[in-house]
Amino acid sequence: MRTLDSLGPLGSKTVIVRCDLNVPLATDANGVKTITDDGRIRASLTTIRELREAGARIVLISHLGRPKGEPDEQYSLRPVAARMTELLNEAEPVSDSGDAAEVGFVDETVGEAASAAVAALADGEIVLLENLRFNAGETSKDDAERRAFAQQLADFADAFVSDGFGVVHRKQASVYDLAQLLPSAAGRLVAAELEVLERLTEKAERPYAVVLGGSKVSDKLGVIAHLIERVDTLLIGGGMVFTFLAAQGHKVGASLLEEDQLDTVRGYLATAKERGVRIVLPTDIIVAEGFAADAAHEIVPADAIESSSFGASGLGLDIGPDSAAAFAAVIAESATVFWNGPMGVFEMTAFAGGTRTIARALTETDGFTVVGGGDSAAAVRVLGFADEDFGHISTGGGASLEFLEGKALPGLEVLV
Ligand code: 3PG
Repeated sequence: MRTLDSLGPLGSKTVIVRCDLNVPLATDANGVKTITDDGRIRASLTTIRELREAGARIVLISHLGRPKGEPDEQYSLRPVAARMTELLNEAEPVSDSGDAAEVGFVDETVGEAASAAVAALADGEIVLLENLRFNAGETSKDDAERRAFAQQLADFADAFVSDGFGVVHRKQASVYDLAQLLPSAAGRLVAAELEVLERLTEKAERPYAVVLGGSKVSDKLGVIAHLIERVDTLLIGGGMVFTFLAAQGHKVGASLLEEDQLDTVRGYLATAKERGVRIVLPTDIIVAEGFAADAAHEIVPADAIESSSFGASGLGLDIGPDSAAAFAAVIAESATVFWNGPMGVFEMTAFAGGTRTIARALTETDGFTVVGGGDSAAAVRVLGFADEDFGHISTGGGASLEFLEGKALPGLEVLV
C-alpha cells in the first residue's frame, strides 16, 4: 500500500484528500444543525495536519448521507467545515504569527466557484468542497460517467490522498477512479485502520469474540459466514436477533424480521454447531408497545416475545439485562473482541441498556477491543464512553465488516 511518504515533498503542491466526513447531524426546531458525533472529523485531522505542516494546499472532499445526485441542503457539509476549524485549532493552537487554521467552504463540488477557491489557496491553507454526492457522477454505475466526474476533481490537484476509510468499500469516483488519475497514496487514517484490522484477520489472539448488532440485518448476515470460520464466539444482538430467533422456531411479534434470510440463518446455526463455534443469542428481550422513546415496555424471555402484554404487536427494541450480562461475561474472558452494531435502539434511553453494558464490558476487559462502525462508534460516544477506553474505534462500518469478510475493497486495491 502506497503511503503519504511515497508522494515526495508536498510543499506548494495542491493535494486533494478524500475524507469520510459522513457524520450524524441533528437539526433543532430553528433549523440549526448540530454534529452529534464528530469522531470522523477528529480522525481525519492527523493527515490534514501533516499536509499543512508540509506546506501543501489542501482540498478536502467527502460525502455526507445519501443525497440523490443533486444538491440537497440537508446534506450540506458546511457545518463540518466549521467544526473542523474548531478542532484543528484545539489540536494545533494558533501559531506565534497568529495564523489560526481555517477550513474554507465552497458550496459546490466542481465548477467556477470551486476552481476559484482552489486556485486561491496559499501553502498550508484548506478548503472543503460541497458534498460529492450532490453530483450524479460520484456514485454512478456507469464507468465513463464516474470517470468524467473524477477527472474534474483530478484537474484541481497535483496529488490524491485517500483517507476516507469508511468509504473504501465503495467503487465511487472520488474513492476508486480519482486514485487512478493522479499520483495517489493512502493517508494516515487509512493506514492506521488497516493495521488494526489486519491484526484481527491475521493474528487475533484467542479466545476471539465478535459482537454483532445493528439494524442493517442483511448487510451483517454476510459477514457471519466468514466469521464462523475464524472466531470462537459470535454474540448476536440488535435487529438481526429476531431473524435468528424466528429461525429457531420462535414467534417474534412485530419485531424486525427478514423472512427471506431464515434459511441462511438456519444454515449458519448448523455450521457453527459443526465447527464448535458458539453463537450466543439473547435469552431475554425488551419488548415495547411501539417504536417510541416513551413506549410502554416489558422484559420477556426471548423464546416467548409474544407473551408480553402487547401480544403479537409488541416489538423487541433491546436485548434484556440477563442477556447483556451473559454477553459481558464472554467479553471479559476474551483476548480479542470486535464489536459492530448497537444491541438496541440506543438513541432512546429505555432501550440503551444492552448497548451500554456491552460498551462497558469492552472498556473493562484486558483483551484487545475494536469498535467498528459509524453506529457503534456514535453509540459509545453518545453513552459517555471515551475513545481511549477502547483498543481502537474504527471510522468504518461497512468498510470494516467487508474487510473482515476478506472482500477486495475497491478503494484499497487502487492504492497498491
Ligand atoms: C458509512 O457511514 O459507513 C460511510 O460513510 C459510507 O457511507 P455509505 O454507506 O452511504 O456509502
